[in-house]
Amino acid sequence: MKTNDQLEHLKELRAKARLGGGQARIDKQHAKGSLTARERIDLLLDKDSFEEFDMFKTHRCNDFGMDKQVYPGDGVVTGHGTVDGRIVYVFSQDFTVLGGSLSETFAEKICKIMDLAMKNGAPVVGLNDSGGARIQEGIESLAGYSEIFQRNVMASGVVPQISAIFGPCAGGAVYSPALTDFVVMVQNQSYMFLTGPKVVKSVTHEDVTTEELGGAAMHTSRSGVADYAASSGADAIDYIRRLLSFLPQNNMENPPVVPVTDSITRKSKALNEIIPTNPNEAYDMKEVILQTVDNSDFFEVKEAFAPNIIVGFARYGGMPVGIVANQPMHLSGVLDIDSSIKGARFVRFCDCFNIPVVTFVDVPGFLPGTAQEYGGVIRNGAKILYAYAEATIPKVTVITRKAYGGAYCVMSSKHLRGDINYAWPSAEIAVMGAQGAAGVLYGREAKKADDPKAFLAAKEQEYKDKVANPYIAAQRGYIDDIIEPDNTRARIIRSLGLLDNKRDTNPMKKHGNIPL
Ligand code: HXC
Repeated sequence: MKTNDQLEHLKELRAKARLGGGQARIDKQHAKGSLTARERIDLLLDKDSFEEFDMFKTHRCNDFGMDKQVYPGDGVVTGHGTVDGRIVYVFSQDFTVLGGSLSETFAEKICKIMDLAMKNGAPVVGLNDSGGARIQEGIESLAGYSEIFQRNVMASGVVPQISAIFGPCAGGAVYSPALTDFVVMVQNQSYMFLTGPKVVKSVTHEDVTTEELGGAAMHTSRSGVADYAASSGADAIDYIRRLLSFLPQNNMENPPVVPVTDSITRKSKALNEIIPTNPNEAYDMKEVILQTVDNSDFFEVKEAFAPNIIVGFARYGGMPVGIVANQPMHLSGVLDIDSSIKGARFVRFCDCFNIPVVTFVDVPGFLPGTAQEYGGVIRNGAKILYAYAEATIPKVTVITRKAYGGAYCVMSSKHLRGDINYAWPSAEIAVMGAQGAAGVLYGREAKKADDPKAFLAAKEQEYKDKVANPYIAAQRGYIDDIIEPDNTRARIIRSLGLLDNKRDTNPMKKHGNIPL
């Protein structure tokens, strides 16, 4: 063959590989409102930055007529490219090829880019759209999944791993995304479950739809498996690009600082008025976050799950931070099983990747009750305590109002190596609320009083004046300063600057034993 013919031949082979399972199946994919594997990669990566690996790799199965169903690339597009100029490794499962099902060679392709990502210290983004293990193979496919799981675990805490689910994700296939740091789903298009509605019906006799069992709405609000329910495939990819902008490439780097376009000393007068006079009245903690972060730009994660705690990323003075905040608008901002798990996982992610955590505290305590106790609120509540205590990243805390009981200890307190702990003058730091305290301490005496109600009210006020304020904690040095709410942004930025070179370590060990 002459060189020109050889080039022509290569071009033809590439064109064939790019067609995946063929035009008819691509049309079918578009007809369901879905993008193809390659279109998703194009949206994710900077223009012309994608470099593909293993485009010509094929499966080795000859059973069940598979010798006649050979597609170059074998149903997964893999390689690397850049997002905002920074390298990411990517795999994108191609539903048009045998339903995106995972074969031995398909898994080898994914493992190759995961190994490179680990070696070179760059994030891995997995775009999932697959019918699971390739049924014609069998053990080879199961082995392939297991090889991916092993790499997911080894990469955890070394490079960020992000998964998007665009179509079905069933059986053991859900576990690779579950092992990654963030999972994004697409509303009404993607689902994740171990077994589908038919198996559920035969085993538990429950009638449930696919969407109810494993749709984006369920996983972002009830199970907590997914972090974001995107309105479309393009929205899911936008979310991933934004998320990557806050993250370092690997655990040896710091997160990317951007030029500041917001005044670092900007005051927010509204914050001086935000705490209601009635302590039982709620206010929106998101407003506190928006008023203090750069350009009011807050990237929330897991918004619909356990909304009594808020977690997400933002920047202060251009520096990316993780934010954790109790939300008085939901269940008074109480800590319960789900909010503890949500907060703990987020703090641990930030700690893995050197992202400072800023914590806003307004928490009346842990939620009492049989549902919580039977569900293991002790074991699960301990997770957030463990996460803050082991974290060595810079930790800045602002108590806006309530910090009661165990919840005070847990929420990045000085005692858990909080670096800079501020309180607003409205802070109430005590073992319990004044009403509860007066009842426990003076309940019996009140019964003997002429006017028990007035007696208890006076005792409640006395407790509040003496104990439920930030000054005793400040006298002990547990609070570094009591700050004007409108100056919170400037104080946080200054603290983060101070902690820029922070070095802290934990004792050498194989790994800790977080209460799972
Ligand atoms: C091989 C598969 C396949 C699979 C789909 N296809 N899943 N081929 N192995 N697992 C093929 C179909 O035969 C079809 O081929 C094409 O992909 C598109 O599938 P359709 O069924 O036409 O599409 P749709 O109606 O959208 O349904 C999608 C689906 C369904 C819900 C994913 O295909 C399905 O239920 N597949 C089987 C799912 C499953 O049981 N997987 C194994 C899970 S167990 P043609 O040629 O007609 O286009 C597992 C174990 C992992 O994954 C363990 C890890 C530890």
